[in-house]
Amino acid sequence: MFPVLLLADDAPDLLEQLGTKEKYWFRIDGRRYLFKIGRPNTGENWSETIAAELAGLLGLPHAHYDLAIWRGRKGVLSPLFVPKGGRLILGNELLAELHAGYPRHEVRRVKDHTLGRIHALMTHPEIGLPPAWQPPGNTVGTAFDLFLGYLLLDAWIANQDRHHENWGLIHHQGRIYLAPTFDHAASMGQNETDGTRQDRLSTKDRGRHISAYVTKARSAIYEGKTSSKPLLTLELFQKAAAKSPQAAESWLTRLRQIPDNAVETLFEQLPLDEATPVARQFALTLLALNKQRLLEPRP
Ligand SMILES: Nc1ncnc2c1ncn2[C@@H]1O[C@H](COP(=O)(O)OP(=O)(O)OP(=O)(O)O)[C@@H](O)[C@H]1O
Ligand SMILES: [Mg+2]
Repeated sequence: MFPVLLLADDAPDLLEQLGTKEKYWFRIDGRRYLFKIGRPNTGENWSETIAAELAGLLGLPHAHYDLAIWRGRKGVLSPLFVPKGGRLILGNELLAELHAGYPRHEVRRVKDHTLGRIHALMTHPEIGLPPAWQPPGNTVGTAFDLFLGYLLLDAWIANQDRHHENWGLIHHQGRIYLAPTFDHAASMGQNETDGTRQDRLSTKDRGRHISAYVTKARSAIYEGKTSSKPLLTLELFQKAAAKSPQAAESWLTRLRQIPDNAVETLFEQLPLDEATPVARQFALTLLALNKQRLLEPRP
């Protein structure tokens, strides 16, 4: 079973302003942690915890999340992933440096947040891979090759929240490298009601069925500034994959090699009161369908 950590009542030392969820920085035994409180009537705490484990199965560097309770409030606790003396520079800050007029203070529907710009930034020779992370084989050479793995994860779990404050680079001791992937709570249908989940799992209406639902997941990254909508998560992975086919193939191989029971085991480790049986079944079905969509041969 995943542990549920009980945090001491003493006030945390800092309120984190970034992002939409209520969250606080704690110092525990000399280390810093972010405690993030999932919104009521959502499964944000379990989705965050499971998504990080799935990232781990893919071999991606990722933020870690433990279920935790503070003053009776449920959330997730994440150790700071920025090393001492280092700085996390988020996507909006980076793109604003490079592109005049970039809307750095907007978060949703930012059409300037394009795949082409991310690709240009992340293939810059000065931007590296996380120093302590072991790449799969020799096909993942640039930060973009690794980011492709993050996009594969997003497509697998239907993460719709890869906006420009949900990725970044770390600047530490003169080096700049891609930050681990973080903030995957908006995934796996965690905010659907059980009624909707049950209906989408069992309906005979093809347009409503979960197999149609999974095709609608959208990212927060656009193809171009004039696109009317952000790219679908699968479409985004495929368009990004075309820019670095060998790295994409390595990530797909990783996904192919993950046994279905490894994913089921993760859900079995969730405490019973974290997610209802239908929420689990919905998430597992979504993961299986997206895996199939990612791996099926394309014309
Ligand atoms: N483990 C961590 N280590 C260092 N910084 C972190 C960590 N987790 C989050 N952050 C920072 O805190 C910010 C907010 O966290 P996060 O994105 O998880 O919150 P959120 O409220 O879910 O955001 P959103 O509005 O995107 O849903 C991130 O953009 C990042 O800058
Ligand atoms: Mg965020």
